[in-house]
Amino acid sequence: MKYGYFDDASREYVITTPRTPLPWINYLGNEDFFTLLSNTAGGYSFYRDARLRRITRYRYNNCPLDQEGFHLYVKDGDTVWNPGWQPVQTELDSYSCRHGLGYTVIEGTKDGITAKQEFIVPKGEKCMLIRVTVTNISGKEKELSVFPYLEFCLWDAMDDASNFQRNFSTGEVEVAGSAIYHKTEYRERRDHYAVFWANREAQGFDTSRDAFIGVYGSPARPEAVFGAGCTNSVAHGWQPVAAEQFDMTLQPSEQYDLILGLGYIENPAEEKWENPGVINKKKAEAMIARFSDNGTFDAAMNTLKKFWAELLSGYQVESGDEKLDRMVNIWNQYQCMVTFNMSRSASYFESGMGRGMGFRDSCQDLLGFVHMIPERARERILDIAATQFPDGSAYHQYQPLTKKGNLAVGSGFNDDPLWLIAGTDAYLCETGDWSILDEEVDFDNDPALRQPLMEHLRRSFNFTRNHLGPHGLPLIGRADWNDCLNLNCFSEHPGESFQITGPSEGPVAESVFIAGMFVKYGSAYVRICRHLGLETEAAEAEEAVAAVEKATLGAGWDGAWFRRAFDAYGNVVGGKECEEGQIFIEPQGMCVMAGIGKETGEAAAAMKSVEERLDTKYGIVLLQPAYTRYHLELGEISSYPPGYKENAGIFCHNNPWIVCAETELGHGDRAFQVYKRTAPAYIENISEIHRTEPYVYSQMIAGKDAPSFGEGKNSWLTGTAAWTFLSISQAILGLKPTLDGLMIDPCIPADWKGFTVTRRYRGAEYHITVQNPGSVQHGIKRILVDGVAQESKILAPASAGSTVKVEVVMG
Ligand code: BGC
Ligand code: NOJ
Repeated sequence: MKYGYFDDASREYVITTPRTPLPWINYLGNEDFFTLLSNTAGGYSFYRDARLRRITRYRYNNCPLDQEGFHLYVKDGDTVWNPGWQPVQTELDSYSCRHGLGYTVIEGTKDGITAKQEFIVPKGEKCMLIRVTVTNISGKEKELSVFPYLEFCLWDAMDDASNFQRNFSTGEVEVAGSAIYHKTEYRERRDHYAVFWANREAQGFDTSRDAFIGVYGSPARPEAVFGAGCTNSVAHGWQPVAAEQFDMTLQPSEQYDLILGLGYIENPAEEKWENPGVINKKKAEAMIARFSDNGTFDAAMNTLKKFWAELLSGYQVESGDEKLDRMVNIWNQYQCMVTFNMSRSASYFESGMGRGMGFRDSCQDLLGFVHMIPERARERILDIAATQFPDGSAYHQYQPLTKKGNLAVGSGFNDDPLWLIAGTDAYLCETGDWSILDEEVDFDNDPALRQPLMEHLRRSFNFTRNHLGPHGLPLIGRADWNDCLNLNCFSEHPGESFQITGPSEGPVAESVFIAGMFVKYGSAYVRICRHLGLETEAAEAEEAVAAVEKATLGAGWDGAWFRRAFDAYGNVVGGKECEEGQIFIEPQGMCVMAGIGKETGEAAAAMKSVEERLDTKYGIVLLQPAYTRYHLELGEISSYPPGYKENAGIFCHNNPWIVCAETELGHGDRAFQVYKRTAPAYIENISEIHRTEPYVYSQMIAGKDAPSFGEGKNSWLTGTAAWTFLSISQAILGLKPTLDGLMIDPCIPADWKGFTVTRRYRGAEYHITVQNPGSVQHGIKRILVDGVAQESKILAPASAGSTVKVEVVMG
């Protein structure tokens, strides 16, 4: 069942009922000011940091769900309704929500009145605009009032949700004309306030929630709206809100519009006040003036649309399969950008108060956005590298505001260092900008320990090389990619962290997954060394890689698939002798992507085992059989009920590893089958089962052992975005950036006749046509570059600004 449809020409997903299985959200903002916005106008805004500068309040886990946001009440006689249906939930005559790239339009009709809310965060501005348009289509005169409403958060979202003894007394506002200023704590240490404004005169306002909603009222039945209107209340403490009232008489066909704004303003200490106790509103007034009419609103919308069109134009496919095209050309790239902006901080599953930026996560996210914004990828790599320790290990997380490593979580996740090589290699292959390796970067954020980035990569490589266990496989530490495989932690008491309880450095527990990574990204390191002329180092590194590869095919091989690990007692994890958890997806994907066992048959056998043992109709589960009880020696993985999360859920992030791995073996049919099973556009028509947004990936889909098999959770902020983009754009469609240029090597379903891709690469634009007359899955018969035949699959970089025509015939 579907709850809407894709409008590809407008790059929008159009939701046609407000009763989606879960709130379906969008992200507005791309720089400083961000809003999460659901299809019923729920959500919240923040400035840069979702925890420390939360502008509006949101209650996760609320019941009813998703009641806080940017709602508009329409009062038409005795009927009160919202264009987005929530929170009053009056049945509408028509409803639609268009989630576009960086904007959302919600429109509802009731009794001959249409009300539309257009939401946008303009480029370069620290505010969100909401244009409200009310149209009388009833054929008769109508008298109406509309009330926009939002609830302020007292800045620190964590404190706001817990420290009531203080924050019930701190709230302060000022009202000036149609602008409501939220200035809690501005009197003392804060240099910032928020402002909610309208470009028309309001007939009334409220800033006290008790006055507008009622102490025992609810957003579904605000006393001011259902009663006699706003009372011009001024909040002192308690819950400051912004509500305004606009009365209108509309003739038949008459339209009324109103521009609302929510802005964030910072003032230097010496300019905080206009008069004692009165805040300096100059910047806010300038912001308000910038958006005083429809013309400026429309211009902001056009600028935003152009920005996105330009960003996405770096990779556009025409495959003849509209679902594939919309994933690649629009939604997958969009999700990669949102993930870049948010990391894992704020979604409808991430509260914005929890984790910092993950070292591993950020490096992987890069793989998905480096082609769109290489300059920001560069900056990100340098930020991440600065949180590395001198021995090559790394803080597992860092704080985006301070860019400092997070001490509470510390280090010891032994896959982390290798992801730095992965991210940097992707950057080099994309841009050819070797100067990044000479950039001086701190270790442990200490300028005294500064070294060129190349030295960081070297220490990453050497960290793994020097931390091998009894079988010559890399030691796992606290965990590897699978945060929940905690082989050295032994967490026994509720409330303890699964990851950081116990010693990080176990001398025994080893990871076959990190072994695969070491072969894959260690080989990338070897290529980098060669490119720099460091032949001796390259040869030595190559030897170290070969040794780990050998160990992987030795102790790491179970007979028909790669083992997962050895635990702290030296027992196999992910082998046929295990009672539960006999086979895991991660080492199959990573080791085969690394090419391990490609010549000798293990790779093909591993892929076959995945298909036989882990496949389901909704995707590939992480492991089988699921753990049915807690295994102290394995940790969090066995804390989840069977079928959820890392315990045999369909962890979407590592499905594309299998896609990539299958293409390593030339299996285009299978690769595309795996790709399609989790790709949102292909599962749109099971939205009642999948439940999360049909335009983005979720981190996890409940596996076959779960009662809710097929149900998605944790949508938006997941490494799945980057990896699926990589799997389709590079592995299947086959445009692989390398150190030497763009390689063309498609691996597609045999029944595809061909496709075309436009790809921006190192400043040149490539128009690539691939034909498949012989119905093969892999292999190239001919490549013509600007009409000239060439042998190599790698296109030498063309000069920036040029256009290159590439014709490829498979066979
Ligand atoms: C989740 C993991 C996540 C980890 C972060 C665990 O509870 O299952 O997916 O990476 O928390 O600390
Ligand atoms: C989510 C985390 O963000 C990511 O770093 C980790 O690899 C996966 N969970 C798997 O545990």
